[in-house]
Amino acid sequence: MDICVGVLTVSDRAASGEYQDVSGPLIVEILERKTKWQVTKQATVSDEIIEIAKYLENWCDTGLDLILTTGGTGFAPRDVTPEATVRVIEKPTPGIVEALRSESLKITKHAMLSRATAGIRGKTLIINLPGSPKAVKENLDLLLPVLPHALKLLRGEKSAEHGHRLV
Ligand code: MTE
Repeated sequence: MDICVGVLTVSDRAASGEYQDVSGPLIVEILERKTKWQVTKQATVSDEIIEIAKYLENWCDTGLDLILTTGGTGFAPRDVTPEATVRVIEKPTPGIVEALRSESLKITKHAMLSRATAGIRGKTLIINLPGSPKAVKENLDLLLPVLPHALKLLRGEKSAEHGHRLV
C-alpha cells in the first residue's frame, strides 16, 4: 500500500529555532524503520490555531493518507493543537485517542494530561501525539499495528474483504 504521511511539529520554541525539534524527526525515523510509508510532508509550526489548521487543511487537500502532529496537546496556555485539529476534521475518531490514553496511563499517570484528538478529513486521518520523544515512541508503538487496517478502510479498500454490504 502506497501510504503518504505528513509530520507536523507544533512548538513555539522549535518554530523560532530556539530549540531543535527532536520529536518530528523521531516520528520520521520510526516510520522509515517500521513501515514502507513515505513521509512526503514535514514542517514545524508555532502554537497558533490558525497556522496549525492551515497546514492540516492544505496537507489533507494534497491527498495525504495520514497526518501525525506532535506537541501542543497539554495544559499549557499556548497548547492548542487539539483545537486546531477539531476545526478541520469532519469525523472524530475517539477510539484512537481513548486507546492511546488508556494504554499510556499504564506507563505514566501524566497521560491523563493529554488533550489529544484524532479524526478524518476527506480521506486523511489526523492524529495528535504528545510532544515528548518518549511519549511519541510509546504512542507509535501502540498505533502502528492498527494503522494499516485503519488506512485501508479509509481508502475504501477493506469493505469487500469484510463482506460488508452497503445496502
Ligand atoms: N503519553 C505517553 N505514552 N507517555 C508520556 O510520557 N506524557 C504526558 C502525556 N502523554 C506522556 C504521554 C504528558 S507529561 C503530557 S503534559 C501530555 O501528554 C501532553 O503533552 P504535550 O503537551 O507535549 O503535547
